[in-house]
Amino acid sequence: MTLGNNEKKMLRAMLTKANHIWSLEELLEVTEWTDQVHVAGSGKILMEENLVQITEIKEKIVTLGNEGNNAVNNGLLEFRLWNWIIQQSESNRTMKGLFSAGFERHEAGPGVGLLKSMGVSINSGIFISESEDEVSRQIKKRTEFINKLSKNKVNAEELDDEMVEHFKNRKGLINIEENTTREWNLTKKGMAIQDSELEQIELIGEITPEFLQRDGWENAQYKEFDINADAPIPMGGRPHPMQSLIERIRSVFLEMGFSEIEGDYVQSAGWNMDALFIPQSHPARTMQDTFYLDEPKKIDIPEDMLDLWESVHESGHDTGSLGWGSKFDKEESKRGLLRTHTTVNTVKHIAENPESPCRVFGIGRVFRQETIDRTHLPEFHQIEGIIHEPNASLPMLISTLKTFYSKMGYPDVRVRPAYFPYTEPSVEVEVYWRGKWLELGGAGIFRPEVTEPLGSEWPVCAWGMGLERLAMLVLELDDIRELYQPDLERLSRMPIL
Ligand code: PHE
Repeated sequence: MTLGNNEKKMLRAMLTKANHIWSLEELLEVTEWTDQVHVAGSGKILMEENLVQITEIKEKIVTLGNEGNNAVNNGLLEFRLWNWIIQQSESNRTMKGLFSAGFERHEAGPGVGLLKSMGVSINSGIFISESEDEVSRQIKKRTEFINKLSKNKVNAEELDDEMVEHFKNRKGLINIEENTTREWNLTKKGMAIQDSELEQIELIGEITPEFLQRDGWENAQYKEFDINADAPIPMGGRPHPMQSLIERIRSVFLEMGFSEIEGDYVQSAGWNMDALFIPQSHPARTMQDTFYLDEPKKIDIPEDMLDLWESVHESGHDTGSLGWGSKFDKEESKRGLLRTHTTVNTVKHIAENPESPCRVFGIGRVFRQETIDRTHLPEFHQIEGIIHEPNASLPMLISTLKTFYSKMGYPDVRVRPAYFPYTEPSVEVEVYWRGKWLELGGAGIFRPEVTEPLGSEWPVCAWGMGLERLAMLVLELDDIRELYQPDLERLSRMPIL
């Protein structure tokens, strides 16, 4: 038996109280080690030598997840629905009523499912239950369970199994963590070991040049290494998955011969919309979709640009188009806003370089007044690009997008007819993934109403795609919010791109 110094030290420490069962903290204290790895490693060797026995105690700890915290603050979904239902007169307990009471569709569906599993049914559109008291009782039980968890971590043993089972199957409500604690005690053989066997000797663990220059290295004793021993996996830093994805997209476009452009978040309605021939009455321009700014309330635009947009919007200028036929408001053009798409960057690029052919792309943040849910955020990113040259064409656009997505790992791409006020033809780009076609963005050839006022005479292939959509695909996520929650554990587990 060759015990190392650490094992000897641990044994000697344990022999001070030979019958004691030691916890990790106690062993760290008596050995004066600061790293628990020493206790674990030496303990394992001592166990293999049958000097020490290790007892593992496994426990399950239950805590609330994100949805669970929401439920503590706002009530469980079934609680809120049921509460609403029982407050209505019987004939008013309808699905329709539920929506007008402010329940969102994405809540109502799963919520009704929960109620049904408690025996509530829908008969000619009306919620009915054989035993309302029983439903209320069930919901009360669930609520108490969730509230109990809100205060503390709780050991699963102290909880109702049935409730744990139930909530485990609901997304985000509870987390179950398995914890293992260990205890160490001496075996008979360990207690009988002689002091003389526990003398420290110098064991060489590291062969350094300094060591080899010393006398006597030939006769030194070397520490044994167990290359199969468990070692902690270091948690190193890594780029955020979104950052890696952006880098990858960047290198794909650079590889395809594109240059990168950038632009500001704050833009005028003129550049963000009028330049794109989006009519001033377009619903997407209203307050519900666009964040208009108080500061700056107005952004200057050169008067000759405004004149051109006015003429194009009102009567088509000399593009051959009839325009929208309604009055153009130059003051509306000057309103400050947060850009709603990165198409504003490519359009400005053309305006600044109307006579030089280019292939450019940009990846940037955009802003829209969206309600946050599984697939929507009010701030997200777009991948935008144009090919501006005399022979730009729809086939060129489609093959460029196909090349891009193939290089990203998605070779099956198709386009479908679509509509944007600024392109003709317009297409929607879809990628095939796991048996489904997913829509990832829009594309088309800019209309003359867009390019002519900018001073360009060439067709422009243009596209704009959602980066988060692509990220969900690449990282296999089903909730967009996971990308931006500061959950280091989850982020560290996402694939390296
Ligand atoms: N700007 C469009 C969007 O935000 C995408 C698009 C860009 C469509 C360029 C056509 C041409 O969805």
